Amino acid sequence: MRDKRLQQGAARAVAPWRGDSRARRDHFVRVFAERMLADEGTGVMLVDADYRIVEANPMASAIFGGDRFSWEGQPADVWAEELGVVLPFGRSILQGESFRNRKVAWTRDGVSREVVVDGDALVSGGQVIGAYMLFHDVTPWMMLEEQVRRSDRLKMIGQVAAGTAHEIRNPLTAIKGFVQLMKKSFDERQMGKEQNYANIVLSELDRVQELVGEFLLLSKSKETKLSSLRIGAVMREMLPMLRNEATLHDITVRYESKPDLPPVLADKEMLKQVILNLGKNAIEAMGKGGRLLIRERHSDAALPGYVSVDISDTGSGIPPHTLERIFDPFYTTKENGTGLGLSICQRIVHDLGGEIGVESSADGTVFTVSIPSVSSDPGIQSSGGGALPHDDV
Ligand SMILES: Nc1ncnc2c1ncn2[C@@H]1O[C@H](COP(=O)(O)OP(=O)(O)OP(=O)(O)O)[C@@H](O)[C@H]1O
Ligand SMILES: [Mg+2]
Repeated sequence: MRDKRLQQGAARAVAPWRGDSRARRDHFVRVFAERMLADEGTGVMLVDADYRIVEANPMASAIFGGDRFSWEGQPADVWAEELGVVLPFGRSILQGESFRNRKVAWTRDGVSREVVVDGDALVSGGQVIGAYMLFHDVTPWMMLEEQVRRSDRLKMIGQVAAGTAHEIRNPLTAIKGFVQLMKKSFDERQMGKEQNYANIVLSELDRVQELVGEFLLLSKSKETKLSSLRIGAVMREMLPMLRNEATLHDITVRYESKPDLPPVLADKEMLKQVILNLGKNAIEAMGKGGRLLIRERHSDAALPGYVSVDISDTGSGIPPHTLERIFDPFYTTKENGTGLGLSICQRIVHDLGGEIGVESSADGTVFTVSIPSVSSDPGIQSSGGGALPHDDV
């Protein structure tokens, strides 16, 4: 498309070259200017000496939204105000205050955008006749930068978590041992009140120990013990636990197996933890009443050879602007949450070579875990077959 346009431009340029070199130059500049205005990668805006918009190219309206033809004649500052954009320059550009790489950031229809602008005055015959602004949409680069920053942050959190967890674990073992001894001696002396205190201390220590365990799981890629197993086998062990929890909240649990699916290659304990965390989140999102549906299926075409499990709830959903943060460690909206559940799930699923995704609306949320399946290799034994039948509570 672009090449074709260039060729057309070149063909048009041939005739006027002969003779007058000034005309030839002018023609070149005009063709170049037209080409710049049609450019799909750069937004162009021209203003006159009164700071009124003379021209805006299609890219400018693609960046800022709105109808570029209706902008003509409008002062640039009024135009910016109407669009809710704070421009990093002003009428001083007409006094020759040129600039480069100034950032403009704003949000339109819930989508954040970032643009860098270059600008300078246009001078003709010693007079400022207006100014130009060139806009480059850098949103994709900014998103990439944010991703790198996030992954650096995750790595750092991982390292700090590993170090801290390691240091906490040793004294914790000693504290627990001595409290157990104290409890024993309270028992022997039948000191009921002190026994109670010791029990409370021990159960709180268990909580700390559990948390430290989660830290370590998050920070280190634990050695995975891969074996061929069926999702049904994992579900058989997890369903009673999930059902207990669900019943307390009047939530029904339905499990839809697909017996003809191949087994997956995974670490059973880790997969159990993923299902548990996602199931717990689903139940917590529903409050009282609702339905938790766990469904096995072949993965979408984008992941051939994978098996997927959808965990859907009828909860309140996740607002779009928080969707990208839910996998961050310590991101939680719950009073007693640690915010580690999903980051652990993500780590485990990635360690298994799989993917985890989420879709959410006001009607509820679906988390999808996709794990590589075992190719029909007769050498690999699958453990614990038996998908369960469709199953409601
Ligand atoms: N099914 C869901 N529906 C709605 N929001 C969810 C769902 N799953 C996760 N979330 C949101 O993502 C956040 C992070 O979840 P994550 O499991 O990492 O931590 P948590 O559940 O808050 O704490 P923890 O898992 O440590 O108890 C939750 O606080 C919640 O806001
Ligand atoms: Mg959770």
